[in-house]
Amino acid sequence: MSHKRVAILLSGGGSNMVALADSMTGDHPARPCLVMSNDPHAGGLTKAANMGLATAAVDHRPFKGDRAAFEVELMKPLLDAQPDIVCLAGFMRVLTAGFVTHWAGRMLNIHPSLLPKYRGLHTHARALEAGDTEHGCTVHEVTAELDDGPILGQARVPINAGDTPETLAARVLVQEHILYPAVLRRYASGDRTPVLLS
Ligand code: GAR
Repeated sequence: MSHKRVAILLSGGGSNMVALADSMTGDHPARPCLVMSNDPHAGGLTKAANMGLATAAVDHRPFKGDRAAFEVELMKPLLDAQPDIVCLAGFMRVLTAGFVTHWAGRMLNIHPSLLPKYRGLHTHARALEAGDTEHGCTVHEVTAELDDGPILGQARVPINAGDTPETLAARVLVQEHILYPAVLRRYASGDRTPVLLS
């Protein structure tokens, strides 16, 4: 059986990358082919290298906001790796419609809210401020609109009295590490039925 090739893009500590990469063993239909970051110093790159995974970095800062020019460079190692699926896992750069279109139907993202609620940043604080009783995370196909696109899975967590954005984020992150690998396994096998965890 030939495995699907998965590239993982991150900006930070890479705990979701570790969960995804760890899951791709045995009878899993995919294997990691590249871990890439827009931050050469991202902790996730070190973790990936220590796991024996291929890594690449394209620092976005020299491009001074020129997203298209940044993406030309980002695309090169990605194309070289020939991924069948690209997983955004804490990748904190907004991608242009052109880049997203190239990977349409092949790019996933995990977002720390129950989409369509709380697109963008500070999702945990916003859920608390709204007085929500539950929160969670979503894996979706990436389309040109930010944090939009067909939902492939969601996991719910309760909001507890006394929660802070930090305690809530930690509870959601535990579920992210379960949800994203579950969605990727299903997606890589050609099944787009949403994974719903509660
Ligand atoms: C995760 O909580 C992920 O959902 C979030 O960043 C964190 C990355 O953690 N992503 C976004 O906010 C995307 N807009 P990690 O580096 O430990 O996986």
